[in-house]
Amino acid sequence: MVPQLAAGSLLLGLGCDVIEVDRVRRAVERQGERFLARVFTEDERAYCRSKAHPFPHYAARFAAKEAVSKCFTTGIGAELSWKSVSIRNGTRGEPLVTLDDQGLQLLHSIGGSEVRVSLSHTEGVAMAVAAIVRLPA
Ligand SMILES: CC(C)(COP(=O)(O)OP(=O)(O)OC[C@H]1O[C@@H](n2cnc3c(N)ncnc32)[C@H](O)[C@@H]1OP(=O)(O)O)[C@@H](O)C(=O)NCCC(=O)NCCS
Repeated sequence: MVPQLAAGSLLLGLGCDVIEVDRVRRAVERQGERFLARVFTEDERAYCRSKAHPFPHYAARFAAKEAVSKCFTTGIGAELSWKSVSIRNGTRGEPLVTLDDQGLQLLHSIGGSEVRVSLSHTEGVAMAVAAIVRLPA
């Protein structure tokens, strides 16, 4: 087992979010693909669509975006958009964060190296924790 972070890494920001899965389900029922396309990247949509029950996976990714926005203290808005933050899965199933140019600019402006997240969901509730870290040089 390898440690999650190299020795000497610094924690620069921390954020969390919890959401009811039904809130995402209702948004999809009201706005359909328009909502999904506004909030989630194509890769995220493909991943969630591949699941037997997609909504907890969508909700966890929604929470991850809000958690990352809290790390930066920007919230989701002009400085960081929904699709600035994209979640994919590593070889063990672990969630990995990809930032777009706007997100990377924000990250680098505070001396951060990367953003880490952890997700969890039940049938009814999803949550995410995010951290901005600076890796040792
Ligand atoms: C920052 C943001 C993610 C907070 O989300 P929220 O759902 O209002 O807040 P939550 O209930 O999850 O969490 C509240 C806590 O977040 C923390 N918080 C508030 N603003 C914050 C910020 N800018 N940075 C970090 N943490 C913040 C506070 O501790 C707050 O608790 P408190 O009011 O008791 O002090 C939110 O403002 C945002 O940008 N949301 C996305 C924008 C949007 O379009 N939402 C509509 C859904 S389609």
